[in-house]
Amino acid sequence: MTIRQTDFTLPGQTAFYRGKVRDVYTIDDQYLVMVASDRISAFDVVLPRAIPYKGQVLNQIAAYFLQATKPLVPNWVLSHPNPRVTIGLRADALRVEMVIRAYLTGHAWREYKAGSRILCGVPLPEGLKEHDPFPRPIITPATKADEGHDEDISRQEILERGIVAPAVYAQMEAFTHTLFAEGSRMARERGLLLVDTKYEFGLAADGSVVLIDEIHTPDSSRYFYLEGYEDRQHRGEPQKQLSKEFVREWLIAGGFQGKAGQLIPEMTDAFVDSVTQRYVELYEHITGQRFEPAATTSDPLADMEADIVQALKRLGYP
Ligand SMILES: Nc1ncnc2c1ncn2[C@@H]1O[C@H](COP(=O)(O)OP(=O)(O)O)[C@@H](O)[C@H]1O
Ligand SMILES: [Mg+2]
Repeated sequence: MTIRQTDFTLPGQTAFYRGKVRDVYTIDDQYLVMVASDRISAFDVVLPRAIPYKGQVLNQIAAYFLQATKPLVPNWVLSHPNPRVTIGLRADALRVEMVIRAYLTGHAWREYKAGSRILCGVPLPEGLKEHDPFPRPIITPATKADEGHDEDISRQEILERGIVAPAVYAQMEAFTHTLFAEGSRMARERGLLLVDTKYEFGLAADGSVVLIDEIHTPDSSRYFYLEGYEDRQHRGEPQKQLSKEFVREWLIAGGFQGKAGQLIPEMTDAFVDSVTQRYVELYEHITGQRFEPAATTSDPLADMEADIVQALKRLGYP
């Protein structure tokens, strides 16, 4: 049973936004109710088939890391009334995604291979191969586009174009390094390498910078297995990635890179199953806990809505 989308009318609801993956309900312009659906996106396109358990995996991995990092970086989360739902404070989202990378992988590698030695204003050393580490993690921001693709941008351009104020941007950079260091440390404890990830920030009602959205999930991050990483690099063998990258690679192999006119290859049952397996595998690895699929009831949507309404009652709605 997958949940592709929700269509609730919640007490106090003032806005609704359907993201690529999450359904976001605004309550009284103050709170957000975020439902992680089973939709999957790649190259900024939502794929035609949903992935069983993906929403639960995503929501619970994010919850795990948001709770663990809260003492280090303030975030938006208040409660998790259902395995797929997070409720928290709405912030004014800053229009920049803070991408941070410890290894030359994915988009950074595709740029590097094409000859680029400066990424988002950051100079890259010569002589690296795919998946090699950078001397230290680099921040390669992207604009958060309302429509279409996110684009690489440099710190200089963000400041020159006034997308974010300098003091706010400095805080975002500091938080990004803190979160990445903690995420890397937690991953290593479980035998994983946090390769790269992205964070989103917003301004709280008092003007302070807070972490929003999900963190350290397979949608927003890449992980490698720590064991054998060095040997595989040495021998020039591929790294096994725990992330959405294999979905991107599968799409590229099928002739789809999100460009106009390209068709999404057919998602077979076997492929959909393999995606679920990877998401569950990552959940279990990264949290060290067995994945407990949420109980399937006769009407999961109604039950989810009831869980949300209960939680909103505690916040004074209606
Ligand atoms: N606390 C928050 N305040 C405001 N916006 C948020 C908050 N947390 C997450 N968001 C936004 O909610 C949306 C989550 O849904 P998602 O499926 O990721 O959408 P998108 O396709 O825009 O990435 C994102 O646009 C994210 O920026
Ligand atoms: Mg998103």
